[in-house]
Amino acid sequence: MKNQNKDYENLKKISKKARVLSGVSSLLEWDQETYMPEGASEIRGEQLKTLAGIVHKEKTSPKFKKALSKLIDIETGTILNDQLSEPQKAALKVWRDDYRKDTALPAKFVENFAEITSKSILVWRNSKKTNSFLHFAPYLEKIVQMNKKKADYLGYQDNPYDALLDCFEPGLTTNEVLHIFTELKQGIVSLLSKIQSAAPVDDSLLNGDFSKEKQIEFSEQILHAMGYEKKYGRLDFSAHPFSSAAHPTDSRITTRIHSSALMSNISVVLHEAGHALYEMGLPQETYGTPLGDSISLGMHESQSRWWETRIGQSKAFWSYYLPLLKKYFPQISNISLEDFYRAINKVSPSMIRVDADEVTYGLHVILRFEMEKDLINGNLKIRDIPEVWNEKMEKLLGLKPKNPAEGCLQDIHWSMGSFGYFPTYTLGNLYAAQLFEAFNQVHSDWEERLRQGELIFIKEWLNENIHRFGRQYRSQELIKKVTGQDFSASPYLQYLNQKYASIYQF
Ligand code: CO
Repeated sequence: MKNQNKDYENLKKISKKARVLSGVSSLLEWDQETYMPEGASEIRGEQLKTLAGIVHKEKTSPKFKKALSKLIDIETGTILNDQLSEPQKAALKVWRDDYRKDTALPAKFVENFAEITSKSILVWRNSKKTNSFLHFAPYLEKIVQMNKKKADYLGYQDNPYDALLDCFEPGLTTNEVLHIFTELKQGIVSLLSKIQSAAPVDDSLLNGDFSKEKQIEFSEQILHAMGYEKKYGRLDFSAHPFSSAAHPTDSRITTRIHSSALMSNISVVLHEAGHALYEMGLPQETYGTPLGDSISLGMHESQSRWWETRIGQSKAFWSYYLPLLKKYFPQISNISLEDFYRAINKVSPSMIRVDADEVTYGLHVILRFEMEKDLINGNLKIRDIPEVWNEKMEKLLGLKPKNPAEGCLQDIHWSMGSFGYFPTYTLGNLYAAQLFEAFNQVHSDWEERLRQGELIFIKEWLNENIHRFGRQYRSQELIKKVTGQDFSASPYLQYLNQKYASIYQF
């Protein structure tokens, strides 16, 4: 027993170094987006690249392999030691999966991939500005080819897209996503048509002139109430908001403020704080092991969307916070809770994913998932992308993009080579909805407590049921453990239908 624990401790110690270094890398990236002087960017790029190289070397070193092999057979996945605890055994499986992924791609391929994508991002930016898809097309062609190759290196059973998806949402297959998204698509499209036949909601009260300082002061109050401790985090500004955790005791967020739009900063802060609380909630004692890391992008997004939409777009939340908001902004003092609640939940199909409301957001993601799956499977040609995109937009959202900038060139992901990433946005909403049902069973009085301004109990439930496990379970396993049910689209569709039937009165 003693020896076996020693082996585990040894592995933990070796593994921790890569985790510490990737935290340093996060900090440099945070600085790059917030305070770094413009002229520093070139050498900063070099610093990040160097660190990425060292991290990869650490993760794939013979020393690590040797330590890992003592506890688990890297080829077969058999645990070589039954004395370990269940969480430790789960950690070993994750370590092995990560190791196999990290060593599957030849160094030369990784280098080429990085080089192509760093060029592609620049070309994409330019193409978006000049609205020329043709300019970007050869780069995208190359990126799709490289992603197919990546899938081959990583290995898959049925579909090369499985291998890519697995990099962002371990354990979930293309078929499972397709099945769930098909149900979701039908559900949303039918809900949307009911909403569009109802009387429209007026959200003009959310536009005006709202002092930036006061917006920040207000969001600081919410952060405090959520249990986002400034001792372990910061709120700063960046062009594109994000959350960045160097480690569980340094989990920062950024926002951007539009003085003309009241809700934009509030939504961003709730969203990013949701991400940050996940990182802060990871157990410190397992830092450096898989038990001290977040499960997946989808589970991460479930935490941000939980706070942004389930809490921050609920009537109970605003029952407490609207009077406070009115103190900061007397110009809205005559607005009723009902009108405010309807305004912040207005549904209106739009071209741009990041501006989409809660109902139509999923359709934007499903469109991208269908297209990238077809690209990887060879069922869609690069040159047909703009046309297929526009057809799908028209079919799903009833809108036709006027140009590629508001169509297929709007998102950065493909230029970065990130195929398999998009589905995680919607998976996050689905996970959040399913987990919320379990939360509601324990805290059936949650709305009453929100009306009193209480939020900490929500964070505590998430800490207890999601955060503290690190990567002990995969997303699907954790959903099953917490809710007793298999992963499904029903809770999310049920939530949307109920909420919007009441808002749009049908
Ligand atoms: Co997010």
